Amino acid sequence: MADKTPNWIDVGAADELAKKPLQALTAGRAAIALSLKDGQWGAVSNLCNHVGGPLGEGTLDGDYLVCPWHYWKFHRATGKGEPGYEADCVPAYPVKLEAGHVWVDVANASKRGLLPHPPHPLEREPVRAPGPLRLLGISTTAMDGEHPRFSGSDHLLKHALAAAKADGAETQFLALNDLKFRACEGFYSKSAHACTWPCSITQMDKADEMDRVYEGLVHWADAVIVSSPIRWGTASSLYFKMAERLNCVQNAVTISNKVLIRDKVAGFIIVGGQDNVQMVAGQMLGFFAELGFLFPQFPYIAHSRGWSHEDMEKNVEIVRDSVELAEGAAELAKRCLALANRLITTDETLHSVEGGGRKAHPIEATHGERA
Ligand code: FES
Repeated sequence: MADKTPNWIDVGAADELAKKPLQALTAGRAAIALSLKDGQWGAVSNLCNHVGGPLGEGTLDGDYLVCPWHYWKFHRATGKGEPGYEADCVPAYPVKLEAGHVWVDVANASKRGLLPHPPHPLEREPVRAPGPLRLLGISTTAMDGEHPRFSGSDHLLKHALAAAKADGAETQFLALNDLKFRACEGFYSKSAHACTWPCSITQMDKADEMDRVYEGLVHWADAVIVSSPIRWGTASSLYFKMAERLNCVQNAVTISNKVLIRDKVAGFIIVGGQDNVQMVAGQMLGFFAELGFLFPQFPYIAHSRGWSHEDMEKNVEIVRDSVELAEGAAELAKRCLALANRLITTDETLHSVEGGGRKAHPIEATHGERA
């Protein structure tokens, strides 16, 4: 600890404070995580070294505070990081019990220490690499990989990619069904700042394969076509699982004006036995617009037989044998790539997109040192 003239601040009656083993409070202007274990008080900065999570709102694991946002740990009294990461530490404050009150010396905190953390590969600036136009196809249909069956939406997506390839584009097919990725855990609900780019789950869990989608959308593709079946009037469950995990792409705009998707194009293929094409398309268009994608004229193709048609085996035949739908998929790919090409080759810059999609109210800092 430094050796300045102490500035002891009374943070409250010990009896009251002892009702919670861990809490966030302020001592003067300092935001503190105050803890009590085995009769010993500990006071460290409330602000986590990672992206500012409120340590006092976390949990205790032995003598370590566990950040509620992404679970980094700091010693509750010394502020040091977990064993092996001690130098990654938060300020610790002298604390004492006097006259039934808890006092924190805000003048003599230890120094915060930040260990360098190598940036995640996805964190690099999205810069288009030279080369031919690139079309990413994302299939969102779900099926048992050991018992594959015909999927109308996949079938048309493959037509679209084949047409793009025949025109000289590079193509990539990603089936969400083949990727192992976790569902979004709603870090955003803890705080907008807890939803990070790259996604917190991607950073924490090396086995999570959503990075393939992020890499494809943010860094590789000029255009994407997303295909989905209609399931009870909406897009597939895998589509929504992906969409939830893409919140971090949109949230980068909200919290730091970082627009990750620029000059990229999206189109959609929607296939269902029964109706609701327009609603599925509406959701997809609205969501991908919020991510920053642009759309060609007629940005989706679709097929459904209608409410009264339960003979789904006929629907499979119709999609599989339809020349019109196959040609429609090919034309959609061409429209997407034609617009992508214009966006890439034009010298004209679009008007500013900074702040695009932001909600009306600014994000306010609430955790002491951030403010
Ligand atoms: S672990 Fe604390 S903010 Fe991420």
